[in-house]
Amino acid sequence: AVAAVQACGAPGREPVRPDSRMVRLAERARRPANARRVDIELRARPGEADLGGLSAPTWMFNGGLPGPEIRARRGDVLRARLRNDTPEATTIHWHGIALRNDMDGVPGVTQERVAPGGEFSYEFTLPDAGTHFFHPHVGTQLDRGLYAPLIVEERDEPGRYDDELVLVLDDWLDGLSAGPDARLAELRREGMSMSGGGHAHSGGVDPDGTKTGPLGTDTGDVSHPHYLVNGRVPAAPVVNRARPGQRLRLRLINAGADTAFRLAVGGHRMTVTHTDGFPVEPRRADSVLLGMGERYDVEVTLGEGVFPVVAVAEGKGGQAMALLRTGPGTAPVAPVRPRELAGRPLLARDLHASERVRLPVGKPDRTHTLRLGLDPSGTYRWTINGETFDERTPMPLRRDERVRLRFVNTTMMFHPMHLHGHTFQLVGGARPGPRKDTVLVLPKETLEVDFHADNPGQWLVHCHNVYHGESGMMTVLSYT
Ligand code: C2O
Ligand code: CU
Repeated sequence: AVAAVQACGAPGREPVRPDSRMVRLAERARRPANARRVDIELRARPGEADLGGLSAPTWMFNGGLPGPEIRARRGDVLRARLRNDTPEATTIHWHGIALRNDMDGVPGVTQERVAPGGEFSYEFTLPDAGTHFFHPHVGTQLDRGLYAPLIVEERDEPGRYDDELVLVLDDWLDGLSAGPDARLAELRREGMSMSGGGHAHSGGVDPDGTKTGPLGTDTGDVSHPHYLVNGRVPAAPVVNRARPGQRLRLRLINAGADTAFRLAVGGHRMTVTHTDGFPVEPRRADSVLLGMGERYDVEVTLGEGVFPVVAVAEGKGGQAMALLRTGPGTAPVAPVRPRELAGRPLLARDLHASERVRLPVGKPDRTHTLRLGLDPSGTYRWTINGETFDERTPMPLRRDERVRLRFVNTTMMFHPMHLHGHTFQLVGGARPGPRKDTVLVLPKETLEVDFHADNPGQWLVHCHNVYHGESGMMTVLSYT
């Protein structure tokens, strides 16, 4: 896993470094005059996670699952001092932030790995408001529980909602001491013959209709028996207390390594207001589908009682749950399935960017097609245009170009494709799609996104299924 990432700095591949003066100027341009500095210490270290009556030895930031939430305002400078007390080298990637390239946390590409016992100070301006998160970019460390929300508030947000709640979804491996590295080794050993042709993870939905049933068969694979909201299993869920009639903003983050979640709030319709931090034209929905790495902000006006927020592991069957309590009533217990989950979930393609965040109308200067595939020999190698990350050369582009990425999913699996350092816009019909940094590409589907190349450096594009990404489904875009 690590070898693939290191290979990027291998001989024969010249790392492209943006001019440091340009980086400084760009930083200054992002920073308002009255910017504050937000300081945080992050310690990555082994510990015992309490999942709700179930204790699990793993690695966390500052001993929490999720780790400590970082809150800042747009334009603030974040300074995060990482200390690595785990036995492996690590980094932090700031998922969704269009930051300076040298703070992006990709080992061998933007920085050296932080050795056990070592430290690294990240410092950068937060250019956009939104719901984001952070995690290491080394191997399968994300899947151990090294993740936490990064919430950037708008400087002058009109008070649309009364209160808010951050809900982080996760899938949790069984046999925790062996951990996700053992899982990856097992997948590589067994190849795609394992778990029903490799479809056991990440099922699919029928984009045009109701659920077709899991494309990924539930094979009874017990590697993912637990699904978590804010680190808790459904049997001992997080309970949020609120007043009836309150307008509650839910900031939903899928930090799972290998699970797309279909989420609904029992007894309520949601209004989707943002995805991946960027505002959209508000849209009502019964349920939303979140790929790994995707975020959605939704609002609900709460009724009176106790309401479950249920996130079903798409194509797998298990679920995560949290409770909203606004009055007396008995708490529903898992596996309660709100009827709001029954129809087709809202997908990113159903949304349109708010006018103020739309890309200007225009044609792309350059298109890169990325065919997402699987090694035909049946080994556990995930490819882009037939190659794994360590075989690829960076994809060229020029500064200030409008670039189109065409993702062609040739497989029967979900691939949540994530772009570092930029926010793209889904290419849709008559009206532009939402601004995002991660988009779930459904089985056998082609999806296009456009972005403006305005942040020079070396930037990863990869599948946010950690096991796919680590097994080759990654590439680099590079420009100065
Ligand atoms: Cu959250 Cu490169 O990823
Ligand atoms: Cu994938």
